[in-house]
Amino acid sequence: MPPVGSRDWLRWPRDSDRPRFAYGADYNPEQWPRAVWEEDVRLMRRAGVNIVTLGVFSWSRLQPGPRTWDFGWLDDVMDLLHENGVAVDLATATASPPAWLTTAHPEVLPVTRTGETVGPGARQHWRPTSPVFRRYALQVTTALAERYGGHPALAAWHVNNELGCHNVHDYSDDAAAAFRAWLRDRYATVEGLNHAWATDFWSQRYTGWDQVLPPRLAASHVNPTQQLDFARFSSDALRDHLRAEREILHRLTPGIPVTTNFMVMGHTSAMNYADWAHEVDFVANDHYVLPEPGGADELSFSANLTGGLARGRPWFLMEHSTGAVNWRAVNPAKAPGEMARDSLLHVAHGADAVCFFQWRQSAGGAEKYHSAMVPHAGADSRVFRDVVELGRVLREDLDEVAGTGRLPARAALLVDWDSRWAVLRDSLPSSLLDVHDEALGWYRAFLEAGVRVDVLPTDADWEGYGLVVAPLLHVLPGATARRLTGYAEGGGHLVATYFSGIVDENDHVHLGGYPGPLRDLLGLRIEEFAPLREGERVALDDGSSGTLWSDRITVTAPETEVWARYADGPLAGGAALTRRPLPGGGSAAYVSTRLDGEHRTALLGRLLAGAGIGSELPEDLRGRVELAVRAGADAEYHFLANRTGEPVKLHHLPGTPLSGTAAGGEGGEDARVLAPRGVSVWRVPPRDPAG
Ligand code: GAL
Repeated sequence: MPPVGSRDWLRWPRDSDRPRFAYGADYNPEQWPRAVWEEDVRLMRRAGVNIVTLGVFSWSRLQPGPRTWDFGWLDDVMDLLHENGVAVDLATATASPPAWLTTAHPEVLPVTRTGETVGPGARQHWRPTSPVFRRYALQVTTALAERYGGHPALAAWHVNNELGCHNVHDYSDDAAAAFRAWLRDRYATVEGLNHAWATDFWSQRYTGWDQVLPPRLAASHVNPTQQLDFARFSSDALRDHLRAEREILHRLTPGIPVTTNFMVMGHTSAMNYADWAHEVDFVANDHYVLPEPGGADELSFSANLTGGLARGRPWFLMEHSTGAVNWRAVNPAKAPGEMARDSLLHVAHGADAVCFFQWRQSAGGAEKYHSAMVPHAGADSRVFRDVVELGRVLREDLDEVAGTGRLPARAALLVDWDSRWAVLRDSLPSSLLDVHDEALGWYRAFLEAGVRVDVLPTDADWEGYGLVVAPLLHVLPGATARRLTGYAEGGGHLVATYFSGIVDENDHVHLGGYPGPLRDLLGLRIEEFAPLREGERVALDDGSSGTLWSDRITVTAPETEVWARYADGPLAGGAALTRRPLPGGGSAAYVSTRLDGEHRTALLGRLLAGAGIGSELPEDLRGRVELAVRAGADAEYHFLANRTGEPVKLHHLPGTPLSGTAAGGEGGEDARVLAPRGVSVWRVPPRDPAG
């Protein structure tokens, strides 16, 4: 696998490559008359905008017909931006095929699981595996690369847009053909496929590749390995599209980095970004915060995972919003301070670019009620004033932070895409399980404990961490099981949860009692699952409680400590939370239910103490403030984000505040105050590596 981010970062047009924050938005000038472009660049200068993403949805303007091109307007926009010191992340424009293309070639349109053809009229109405679409998409990519590869404004290429946002699962005949090819690559023979898919079940045995199909609508549960493989294939098919565009861009414009905007966000899981991160020159992400209590925790989790995908290097926040979105049932505006809080939380986790969708709020079209940097009200608005201030903070207060990486935490939290997919399917002991929810629950426990944790994909290097939590690691291939075992036996502290280690990469159960390959390590054995009904809660004898799941556990190793037993229900008296100390000083803990929030925090406290990991925050700030740390050669940068709705006083913190606090001492007391939703950044001397 190529290293993540081999070309690293933007090629800044004018001066040196000195690190600085990129600040800007998606810019859609084709929606506006030219007079507005002049105002746009004036306002961009005022806001400190130094980059825009251009051309995401401009295919129909750039190529009005199969053999006609119109680059004049884009030439003008590129020149105008460059004259005004704004660099361009130029999109390949392939996200939304023009009407002439889908009219001439309806065979590029995706097909749903139930056999309906997705019509044009919105966007992303293309099959990832359509050879016809690919040919046209690469044609426009080539034309753009040839025309703008040498333009001085060009800082990066932006492949397509949010690959898979609307078209990840396509069940068309093109998809069927490509799925077969993918399966042949994986299994070589039909017999190999029959084995992996366990096709002797329900008489599904295949005798030829032509019989194999995507998991289209069927009479009952479709073969689960077929479903899992289709999830893998669908992610790979889009990744292949990314590769195809990227290959052209690398070939025609060698010095220009190529990226695409991921959607590491909430329950979006269909694209395996752990894999895709190896395909881009730097990682870019889009994130839309949940407008609900705890939304900022999810933002932090996603930003943290994005930092993990970027392997700790700076990454690009390609889209978030200044205020409301338009695609939820109800779309509230952000409260004062929220936009800056969201932006700076991303920066805290390694973003070196803060960009929004979009620059100017559209007057027409499906996203006219989506916020922007310049709202409908114009520049004389709170939103635009806040935009200008955020630009100033990034440029002036935090300039020295740009280019620094994240300082590794001592604990890691693993996210596994196969497991995410596998527990979302049907025909499981429970349809209520969700890897994202479980992982986020653990992340919140870390926030409550005031202990930093790095969220990492399972294929990352996590052996150096003192504690590793692997929530709902349901799909456990032998190699990963061996890594986990080696880690704990080598002195690491592993925390596994319910329904983990159950199946191998083919979704075949590890036999002999659950959780197969972790059984000996954990010192326990489970014969039967005991999932809980929706709303059902189980009590434990340490006062904690859980939902969703419980296990009938037999403790098999004498040294396994039972930290809590079930206090009621059919499992009363049985072990619920266990921890097996290991001879090498490590341990392997098992959590058999989805613990309720504060109880998970309490358990995590015990597990952290056992691993010798403490909070880096003063006691009065733990849980109230999130700490994230970036580190440069000469200093650390501590980001403190207020998680409460109240002002928080910061006493006796080491270092110098760079931004985000106000003096707040009373009666001669030396304290700074962090406003509700505030994020404050402190420069702190680097720690002694020996200490
Ligand atoms: C993203 C997309 C943008 C815009 C935005 C609105 O999914 O990339 O083009 O639609 O959402 O929130």
